[in-house]
Amino acid sequence: MPGDGIGPEVMTEVRKVIAWLAEHRDVHFDVSEDLVGGAAYDVHGVPLHDDTMAKAQAADAVLLGAVGGPKYDTLDFSLKPERGLLRLRKEMDLFANLRPAQCFDALADFSSLKRDVVAGLDIVIVRELTSGSYFGEPRGIFKEGNERVGINTHRYTESEIERAARAAFELARRRSNRVCSMEKANVMEAGVLWRDVVTEVHQADYADVELSHMYADNGAMQLVRAPKQFDVILTDNLFGDILSDCAAMLTGSLGMLPSASLGAPMENGRPKALYEPVHGSAPDIAGQGKANPTACVLSFAMALRYSFDLGAEATRIETAVEKVLADGVRTADLLQAEGDTAVSTTQMGDAIVA
Ligand code: NAI
Ligand code: MG
Repeated sequence: MPGDGIGPEVMTEVRKVIAWLAEHRDVHFDVSEDLVGGAAYDVHGVPLHDDTMAKAQAADAVLLGAVGGPKYDTLDFSLKPERGLLRLRKEMDLFANLRPAQCFDALADFSSLKRDVVAGLDIVIVRELTSGSYFGEPRGIFKEGNERVGINTHRYTESEIERAARAAFELARRRSNRVCSMEKANVMEAGVLWRDVVTEVHQADYADVELSHMYADNGAMQLVRAPKQFDVILTDNLFGDILSDCAAMLTGSLGMLPSASLGAPMENGRPKALYEPVHGSAPDIAGQGKANPTACVLSFAMALRYSFDLGAEATRIETAVEKVLADGVRTADLLQAEGDTAVSTTQMGDAIVA
């Protein structure tokens, strides 16, 4: 689902990678394409058509470009492009949001941190996405005596914690086999339960994975001080929102960041999954051939690894990206010095394929 703005532009480059895999690796995908966001509204009058929703439910994986744009800013809330994406996430029940922070050596100077702190960094934050403070009841602004009180409830059930923990442990097994779970068990009841349930799930089914626990505030500090100590970080919705944005900036540009949102296992044993770049539709550069397609290409690589058991092909793509960057190929968002020249979206895609 290419979507809006630069979405279709970056998706075109992914198609080249898919074609390359078919031609050179004999790896074939049954790809179908559909509309989401403003593009769907323009044709169907809704940001996600029911038929599209059904196709997404039936797919092994969904790859989405981006949605949104100024043209749709005045639409009713329920018709906004973002509602299309939210509907996908909700109806596919995508409860685990995976946000990798991977620092390619060639971009280490691009980070806000020192080169040796981030060079070679490769971590994933697993953020619980459907519960916690953003959804818990009661919530609202109420009158209490002669003043107002704002209330959110940080609520987690055992099963919500358990399924997020399983997603993190499964992920760790495909990586360096380490999970660090972050909460605030020192001051929050939901944090105590979180730590208990994660520990129980670990002992029951994932004792081979190395598990540690950390208070989330210390976790924030450690992410900036020495991020390479982590492999998979498991955390709740609220802390994960903050920690994943923090981790993203360890690596530099928005144009480089992939993501995945996973749900419950399907009949084939693999999770329902939506892959998408972290960035939006970038209306300021849309249609100009300036967008960096890497985030979308890396999102596709995640799909290969987590939805199709094609880890070797995923690594091949990541290695290609690393090599292209090492060769000095840069889209405009990755330029560091005055006088450096940028390649176009198309040229970046071609370089990765080459
Ligand atoms: P944005 O991520 O679209 O852009 C932020 C800045 O980063 C812009 O200057 C943009 O040019 C740059 N940028 C983003 N992706 C890039 C890429 N691949 N290559 C080079 N530069 C890139 O966020 P913004 O501007 O806040 O939102 C624009 C629209 O996108 C809005 O309608 C917003 O609602 C939507 N949006 C959609 C998301 C999604 O589809 N998941 C996520 C975030 C925003
Ligand atoms: Mg955020």
